[in-house]
Amino acid sequence: MSGPIETPDLTKLAQPAHVSETSDSIAAALHDHMVGKTVIITGVSPTGLGAEAARIVAKHSPKLLILASRSPAKIADVIADLKAAEGFDASVTTIESLTVDLASQESIRAAVASLNEKDPDFALDVLINNAGIMMLPEFETVPDAAGQPLEKQFGTNHIGPFLFTNLLVPALRRSKAPGGARVASVSSGGYQGSPVKALDDPLILRDTPETRAAYDSFQAYAQSKTGTLLMTLALAKKLAGKGVFAYSIDPGAVGSTNLSRSVPMDVQKALGWRLPDGTLNPVAPFITAEQSVASYVKAAYDPSLADKSGATITAAAVDESILDYAKDPVLAEKLWALSEEIVGEKFDY
Ligand SMILES: NC(=O)c1ccc[n+]([C@@H]2O[C@H](COP(=O)([O-])OP(=O)(O)OC[C@H]3O[C@@H](n4cnc5c(N)ncnc54)[C@H](OP(=O)(O)O)[C@@H]3O)[C@@H](O)[C@H]2O)c1
Repeated sequence: MSGPIETPDLTKLAQPAHVSETSDSIAAALHDHMVGKTVIITGVSPTGLGAEAARIVAKHSPKLLILASRSPAKIADVIADLKAAEGFDASVTTIESLTVDLASQESIRAAVASLNEKDPDFALDVLINNAGIMMLPEFETVPDAAGQPLEKQFGTNHIGPFLFTNLLVPALRRSKAPGGARVASVSSGGYQGSPVKALDDPLILRDTPETRAAYDSFQAYAQSKTGTLLMTLALAKKLAGKGVFAYSIDPGAVGSTNLSRSVPMDVQKALGWRLPDGTLNPVAPFITAEQSVASYVKAAYDPSLADKSGATITAAAVDESILDYAKDPVLAEKLWALSEEIVGEKFDY
């Protein structure tokens, strides 16, 4: 079993050098590919990247936009803002909320079942897996399919989206969108902090005195986000030629969201994210939500990526610098098999 690693200074991890595009600039160019689609975005709360993704998708006339998150009141706030936005046309676009806790396999299964019950022919054009949590200070768990405890960041950031996505694949395959359906899954530059160590030792995900002692909050986050990259790789391969394309997104560092809520203020100051008075450090390499979500729009809609399924989009461009452990097809298959075990269901296409 591996020991704890030192939490790296996130501000020193590779960040997009310069993001000149914004969600609006990319969407303006891709408008024709955005209109009339059915889209699900997970993890939607005011101030988060999911809300910015919802804003830009809603602005470009989807047919149906489903905001899937765990806090109904927060989704309702975002929907109210979207409907109040200039140009929103309720006769063109329907916006719905879907309550789903991605840390709970039961909740995920119930949420997808509710979509299929409402419309047995439900067809999905774009799935944006955005929800995530970061650096829980203590080792916490969520139940796996057998009710056994599983480390929570892995459970929420990798296993939740793995199950949600796979249960939605039949709907994605029913998409009639020209150019096919897309799955865009949000990883993090933080993936550079760790491979999926659980592939060597699945026991590190389990609740034992040793794992609690060895727990490193950043390593656990990094492992889960490498999981996102490997899931995309496997998904792209399994769905090649079947009308569904998969991409990962590195959103860059956006200080204005709520992601750092689990990171104690003194740690955030020590890492240089915040100034001594608690405000965001202006010299940290933060970008705006609009710059960040440019990559979401590209991954979800840009037809020029059709031959790049499996790729990661960073700073609105294909990222050619992904580390080997996050683009290895053998590791991707291994993680797929481990994930199937954890959700108690096999998915092959
Ligand atoms: N901000 C950054 O610098 C940055 C950098 C790298 C990667 N990312 C990634 O970008 C994505 C969005 O993060 P953000 O910065 O916008 O953070 P955020 O403001 O904390 O938003 C995260 C969203 O995920 C939702 N969520 C968390 N756990 C969930 C669960 N179990 N089930 C359903 N929804 C859940 C949250 O809902 P509640 O509000 O109800 O908790 C919230 O809507 C995450 O995947 C994150 O890892 C962000």
